[in-house]
Amino acid sequence: MRPARNVDEIIRRMHDKVVLRLGGYGVHFEDREYEVREFLNNVLKLERVAFIYGPFGAGKTTFLKTIAEAMEGGDTMFVYYDYNPAIIRESMPEIMAYVGYGVKNAILEALKSIEVSAPISAAGFTLSMNLGKVINVIIDVLRRHGGELGRIENVVFVIDEYDRYLREKLRDFEYHDISGVAGGFAQCVEHRDVMERTFKDLAQKRLYFIFALSDQAALDVADKLGGKGHSTPYLFWNLPRRSFENILNEVLRHVRANVDVELLWQLLGGNMRELDELVNNYDWDVAMWLRENAINRIKNTFDKYCKAGRCGSISKVLNELVENGNSAARELNLGEFVGQPDIVRGYFGLLEGNVMVRLLGAWRLSGTSDVQGEPWFGNDYAYQIPAYYWALRAMIERRTVNVSPDDVVRTIRENAKTMP
Ligand SMILES: Nc1ncnc2c1ncn2[C@@H]1O[C@H](COP(=O)(O)OP(=O)(O)O)[C@@H](O)[C@H]1O
Ligand SMILES: [Mg+2]
Repeated sequence: MRPARNVDEIIRRMHDKVVLRLGGYGVHFEDREYEVREFLNNVLKLERVAFIYGPFGAGKTTFLKTIAEAMEGGDTMFVYYDYNPAIIRESMPEIMAYVGYGVKNAILEALKSIEVSAPISAAGFTLSMNLGKVINVIIDVLRRHGGELGRIENVVFVIDEYDRYLREKLRDFEYHDISGVAGGFAQCVEHRDVMERTFKDLAQKRLYFIFALSDQAALDVADKLGGKGHSTPYLFWNLPRRSFENILNEVLRHVRANVDVELLWQLLGGNMRELDELVNNYDWDVAMWLRENAINRIKNTFDKYCKAGRCGSISKVLNELVENGNSAARELNLGEFVGQPDIVRGYFGLLEGNVMVRLLGAWRLSGTSDVQGEPWFGNDYAYQIPAYYWALRAMIERRTVNVSPDDVVRTIRENAKTMP
């Protein structure tokens, strides 16, 4: 039986933490009460393999690290593998154990003994071995600290940015290793004997395996596990409107900037990484951000699609998208084609380009009720941030990829449901 946790206390601790600096002002971890409850009550309901996915910059990593820290000292220990390329430059993922001081040190100390093999040649294989070594080290420490760890009932392994690692570091665009590793964990969850052989003493605890993924192709691989080992994809969305506006208003009390909070919601849709970009890289210059991070992002995505030999020029890609869209809209009786996500469906490289995201099933870590019904959030697909939808819509309506930030803002002012 899972002991009751003081969820309010966990949330309070999470909200205490400063997670972002915007123009010199420290932003506390905001919102995510819903996700915390879902995570504790549903994700950790069963030993399982879980895939947490959602827009780039929605806050997956921050959420997982913050909850891990906030739960330190309780019955749950997080072991966090960060495969962020910046960290693995030295070919070793950063590993954090969120557990009492003595044991944490013992784990980190023991991990130093793992000699890190040179970057892996045969896609994935050695890496899986690395994971295996790490797990062995942890098991060893747990043996030695049995008493201290007596109170630990749950061990949550979080494996973050693994897809990006495989892609950027190992050039494994097919993500063979995710199916291998996740499949292995699923096997453990399904078969007690495999779990005990693999995890030895650790198998006496309840074990959870959580992958945070940003790449859709990786998610497809994960999806193919099809429920094996209770494997489940969970959507993690950008911050809801109210929280996003709270943060902005709070920041604007301390930092001087001439911005329209309403318009920023219509562009960023609660994505904190893009807000970070806008403030810290673009010094609140919305037009410049819009050109570089939205309009050009779509053009670059189309360009990549061309270069892969699938269409002659980015104008041709747009033409084809409009033609296909028009006929699909007619067939499905959806009115005029303006870039509706369920019609565009991530084609033309828009999934790979992280412009759109496929919504996999009904499992959601985030409540999405406040974005459902927005034109950029469909049933099966969504734009990762609304600016991508509005920029593409401006292109579709003007039949040209050469749109200006003003064109995009005009499109928003004419069509958004809630602009003044
Ligand atoms: N709940 C939150 N409140 C405030 N800022 C947040 C929150 N979640 C994430 N952020 C900020 O948003 C940015 C992107 O978050 P990150 O966790 O890296 O996203 P992801 O892992 O989904 O790509 C980070 O700068 C982070 O500090
Ligand atoms: Mg992340």
